[in-house]
Amino acid sequence: ISSRPLLAIESSCDDTACAVLAHDGTILAEGVVSQKDHAILGGVVPEIAARAHLDALPHLVQSVLNKASLSLKDIDAFAGTTGPGLIGGLIVGSSYAKGLALALNRPFIAVNHIEGHVLTARLPALNASLQFPYLTLLVSGGHCQCVSVEETGKYIRLGGTIDDAAGEAFDKVAKMLGLGWPGGPALEKLASEGRDDAFTLPRPLKGREGCDFSFSGLKTAVNRLIEPLGKGALPRQIAADIAASFQRAVADVLADRAEHALAMAPHSTALVVAGGVAANKTLRAALEKVASAHNIPFIAPPLRLCTDNAVMIGWAALERLHAGEEPNEIETAPRPRWP
Ligand code: KG4
Ligand code: ZN
Repeated sequence: ISSRPLLAIESSCDDTACAVLAHDGTILAEGVVSQKDHAILGGVVPEIAARAHLDALPHLVQSVLNKASLSLKDIDAFAGTTGPGLIGGLIVGSSYAKGLALALNRPFIAVNHIEGHVLTARLPALNASLQFPYLTLLVSGGHCQCVSVEETGKYIRLGGTIDDAAGEAFDKVAKMLGLGWPGGPALEKLASEGRDDAFTLPRPLKGREGCDFSFSGLKTAVNRLIEPLGKGALPRQIAADIAASFQRAVADVLADRAEHALAMAPHSTALVVAGGVAANKTLRAALEKVASAHNIPFIAPPLRLCTDNAVMIGWAALERLHAGEEPNEIETAPRPRWP
C-alpha cells in the first residue's frame, strides 16, 4: 500500500461522517452530517438513522473530497466502521466504502468504532508523543468503558457499564427535568445555576473493586426526588439544584472509577477521555484531578474528535498500516456487537 490518502466513513449511530487523511495521519478534510430528526423523537430511531446515512453519504463524500482538492482516483484505501453500532447504519456506511474500494480496486479496511475512539489521542496533530500504554475512558451516549490501550490491536477492557452509559444517564435525567434531547449540554447549563450539594444522591459502585460503572440507581434516585414535586411544575431553582447534584454524583463516580482503572493499569502514560460526555467541564475537571494526582497528563481531544467522527476511523486504519498490516477486508461483515 503506497502513501497516498485514505478515505474513511463512520455511520454507526446518528452521525454520518467522512474524512480524508494523508498516510502520516494529517487530516486533509473532514465532514459530519448530524441527524436532526431524532431530537424531535427523543432518541435515535435505527431505521430513520440508516436511511439518513444513505441520503447523506453521496454528497458528504464528494464535498469532503472537494475540500481536500482530491478526486476518488487519488484515494489509495477505504476504511469504514463495521461495528459495534446500529446494524442498519453500519451496513449503509461500510457498504458504501466497500463499493468505492471495489470500483477503484483498492483495499477496504474494517474498523472497530471503539478502536477509533481510543486511538484518536495518538493523531499526530494532537499528541505526536503519546506513547502506549495509556488509559482511555470512553463516555458517550452509547458507550461507557475504561480501556487500557497497550498497542495497536491490543486493548484491555478494564471495565464498563453494567446498565446505562453515562451520556444515556444525562439524557434520561435531562428528560425528567423537562430538557430537550440530547440532554447532556442542556443539563450542564442548568447545573451551572444550581448547588451541587443541595440533594444527596447515591454514587453507584464507588469504592467497589474493578472499574465497572452503573448509573441506573442514580437515575432512579433522581426520579424519586422529582416525582413528588410534580414534573411539569418543578421550580427552576430546584431543577438546577437537582441537575448540579446529579452532575456532581457522576463526576465523583467517574473519578473513582478512573482511579481504580489506573490502579489496574499502573503503567499508563496518560489519562485520555473520549465520547460526547467529555464535553462536560465538571467531569473533565474531576478527571484532570485524578490524572494530576498520578503525575500523568490528562488528554481531552477537541470535541469534534471526541464525538463520533470519521477522522478516528481513518486514523485507526492507518495505525494498522503503520504497524505493517496489509488488510483487505472486503468480506468482513458489519456486526452490531463486537466483544
Ligand atoms: O459521542 P456522542 O456524540 O455520541 C454517541 O453517543 O456515540 O455522545 C453523545 C452523548 C449524549 O448522551 C449527550 O447527552 C452527551 O454525550 N453529552 C453530554 C454533554 N455534551 C454531550 N453529557 C454531559 N455534559 C455535556 N456537556
Ligand atoms: Zn462513538
